[in-house]
Amino acid sequence: MNFQLTEEHLAVQAAAREFAQTELLPGVIERDEHQKFPADQIKKMGELGFLGMMVDPKYGGGGMDTISYVLAMEEISKVDASASVVMSVNNSLVCWGIEKFGTEEQKQKYLTKLATGEIIGAFCLSEPEAGSDATSQRTTAEDKGDYYLLNGTKNWITNGSTASVYLVIAQTYPEKGHRGINALIVEREMEGFEVGLKENKLGIRGSDTHSLMFTDVKVPKENRIGEDGFGFKFAMQTLAGGRIGIASQALGIASGAMELALKYSKERKAFGVEIAKHQAIQFKLADMATNIEAARLLCLQAAYDKDAHRDYGKSGAMAKLFASKVAMETTVEAVQIHGGYGFVKEYHVERLMRDAKITQIYEGTSEIQKIVISRELLK
Ligand code: CAA
Ligand code: FAD
Repeated sequence: MNFQLTEEHLAVQAAAREFAQTELLPGVIERDEHQKFPADQIKKMGELGFLGMMVDPKYGGGGMDTISYVLAMEEISKVDASASVVMSVNNSLVCWGIEKFGTEEQKQKYLTKLATGEIIGAFCLSEPEAGSDATSQRTTAEDKGDYYLLNGTKNWITNGSTASVYLVIAQTYPEKGHRGINALIVEREMEGFEVGLKENKLGIRGSDTHSLMFTDVKVPKENRIGEDGFGFKFAMQTLAGGRIGIASQALGIASGAMELALKYSKERKAFGVEIAKHQAIQFKLADMATNIEAARLLCLQAAYDKDAHRDYGKSGAMAKLFASKVAMETTVEAVQIHGGYGFVKEYHVERLMRDAKITQIYEGTSEIQKIVISRELLK
């Protein structure tokens, strides 16, 4: 057992921290307030290799391990969770899904651009009537010989208006249930594809979340990922890794809030001393630090499992379940430590508190993580 990060891990962590502090921190409050997508910052993240970190270098990626990805996600999420969700979707859902299950042609055509950040991708599973109950897909992909005819609506899609490539899950053979579902690569320019209204959200307001409409979109057969009917398993396997990304996002939100609370507690005075001298504040800090360390270990464990080609469904779900709870609890306490100042935008912790909530909802709610974990235990 070795808890030591390598030189390479430390370098990735330092680069991500530097980028977050110099490029993401300025303007993060305004982007949140005006729901502005961090377009310039995402472009730079692509240039620095943060959008295709684990992709094989032969497709333009960084060839890094999942531990490096967790470390970078934590640092970016400490400052801007809207930017880190773009990073998470592009890396662990879109790039990973195509690299793992796509054809060589799909990799050459799409992955090479996604991995370098030349374009970004979106992952489209959720629908108005199919969120947690993801097998109830209403979107249809009718087999028309050499193409699929795609019809339906997707909901809540991250990168909805900024992506160029969309991985769309749709039902081809309703009589076969989840075994009749396919995953298709849809290009933004395909006729019949329309981006719906942007959601006005509580948190991660800089990320663009949209509904998407598909009306008689002709998707060539060569854009199907995997065997006919593999779409649901594709989604589940992809999400298993995606959950490590969101767990690290939650970890970053928590550790960002903790860093701010620790600093503030040594500056703010009440009753003649720094508030950090009051034991009530010290105990809050001790609880925060302990929970964050436990969340970090779960994230790294899941990343280690993935890198070691061990099953990571359970460890990834545990990391997401726990880290998202810690993010919520830590950010609430960070606001408390800031008193009234925590309730206004300039001090960042109110945004982190709003951003934390989504980590308990997307890529499977906390209740769904408990289903995944308990099914593994009872197997
Ligand atoms: N790997 C491979 N196959 C899997 C799998 C996995 N991890 N999990 C399930 N499957 C397979 C099962 O083996 C089964 O196939 P067979 O019948 O052939 O064996 C099939 O999938 C159906 O599985 P279940 O019977 O377990 O299905 P279920 O209806 O009980 O649902 C669920 C299982 C875990 C609840 C699933 O529906 C789920 O994960 N729901 C949450 C959806 C979700 O996470 N959405 C996130 C959208 S993306 C997003 O949110 C992005 C973002 O925010 C940024
Ligand atoms: P529901 O499934 O209706 O759940 C409502 C409540 O019931 C939840 O508390 C849930 O845990 C609980 N519940 C449901 N079933 C059970 C059960 N069996 N046992 C116990 N409790 C249960 N989706 C994508 O496909 N791609 C994206 O890029 C994407 N990005 C998103 C970004 C944002 C900002 C948001 C808000 C959502 C995004 N989603 C995305 C959708 C997200 O994955 C879903 O919202 C989530 O899976 C929950 O689905 P739902 O909203 O339909 O809630």
